[in-house]
Amino acid sequence: MSRNQVLFERAQRVIPGGVNSPVRAFRAVGGTPRFITRALGPHIWDAEGKRYIDYIGSWGPMILGHGHPAVLEAVQKAAIDGFSFGAPTEREVELAEAIIAQVPSVEQLRLVSSGTEAGMSALRLARGFTGRSKIVKFEGCYHGHADALLVKAGSGLATFGFPTSAGVPPEVVQHTLVLEYNNVEQMEAAFTTQGAQIACVMIEPIAGNMNFVRAALPFMRRLRELCTQHGALLVFDEVMTGFRVALGGAQSLYARLIPGFKPDISVFGKVIGGGMPLAAFGATRQIMQQLAPLGPVYQAGTLSGNPVATACGLATLKEIARPGFYDDLAAKTRALVQGLEGAAREAGVPLVGDSEGGMFGFFFADHLPQNYGVVMATDKERFNRFFHGMLDRGVYLAPALYEAGFVSAAHAADDLAATVQAARQALADEHLHA
Ligand SMILES: Cc1ncc(COP(=O)(O)O)c(C=O)c1O
Repeated sequence: MSRNQVLFERAQRVIPGGVNSPVRAFRAVGGTPRFITRALGPHIWDAEGKRYIDYIGSWGPMILGHGHPAVLEAVQKAAIDGFSFGAPTEREVELAEAIIAQVPSVEQLRLVSSGTEAGMSALRLARGFTGRSKIVKFEGCYHGHADALLVKAGSGLATFGFPTSAGVPPEVVQHTLVLEYNNVEQMEAAFTTQGAQIACVMIEPIAGNMNFVRAALPFMRRLRELCTQHGALLVFDEVMTGFRVALGGAQSLYARLIPGFKPDISVFGKVIGGGMPLAAFGATRQIMQQLAPLGPVYQAGTLSGNPVATACGLATLKEIARPGFYDDLAAKTRALVQGLEGAAREAGVPLVGDSEGGMFGFFFADHLPQNYGVVMATDKERFNRFFHGMLDRGVYLAPALYEAGFVSAAHAADDLAATVQAARQALADEHLHA
């Protein structure tokens, strides 16, 4: 047995499924999860000492790659000064200022410890602010594991969803409406029948939890109009896209194309913590002042704004705010996707990809999917063979076809070339066995 297998067996005795977050278990692709021992730059090493080029980057946070010297130094210094005080610190203020400086829709924010917590709090805030109960989400978007968001679509429009997890009572999701991503007609119909009761619409503007699907421009434009018209808040879940697809997040991309475009509430995580447990939600001062201790919406956290996490986040934000950072990152990520498409073309395999900033996705299909149903109809068996072909060759992609990939500033031209070469070999192999 390999050391990874030994550790996985041991893990399964004491941790359900052997993992602390389900997708790490490789259930979608099969095989044994790699236990990671260390990481540096664009690489991670498993318990066997095998090195991989890392395209997960801790599922998004590691935009500078692993062990960036400036970030390490900031974290070490902060740790010496104290792990946690449960009292205000200057760094929390600095981090809030640094985020707000890049995101014009956010005038105030609150720091929390996970994307789930931020999304859940944003939802409560939207309901508290509007005095309404109903919320809208889109099929295929993931906003963390708060009860009200673990919902799949009902049998038809205007019916509310069903829980996707045991332990979520149907009553808890009775106010959650699930719509198809990029479906303007369905959204219009939902607002026509229920617009006056909708507190907010929550969306991943580029959906990284169905691989990589962009909200189309006319869809986003109409969504903004409908929310404004009906007094519902537009909540942008930028846990993945924030400071990842652009310095100002996905909202800055839509703002370039739709004059005056802004979401009402924004949710951040991942990159803003640089790999430490840190997330945030923010909005205008008027909305944020509904929160305790100023307003009636309760929200709190023992470790919120943790001094070591904020040091890590601040040092990360400082590096990514340097001129040209996103141009370089985007060019590398685009080159990677083009390389994968080229390798597939040579092998006669249909593969189509897309990217924005340091986030990318690819599908074994002829056209980019526009919604969850189409994503899930792409070739899963081929993806799984490809995933293992790449893993065997030292390239660590996300272990499920519905997950996005991430490139960091530390990925060098050599790493990208090695990845494309591995893809050529994996596709040639899998083609023979297809
Ligand atoms: C878009 C989005 N929102 C929310 C979350 C939840 O964040 P966390 O895992 O930090 O709770 C995730 C996690 O992957 C995410 O991708």
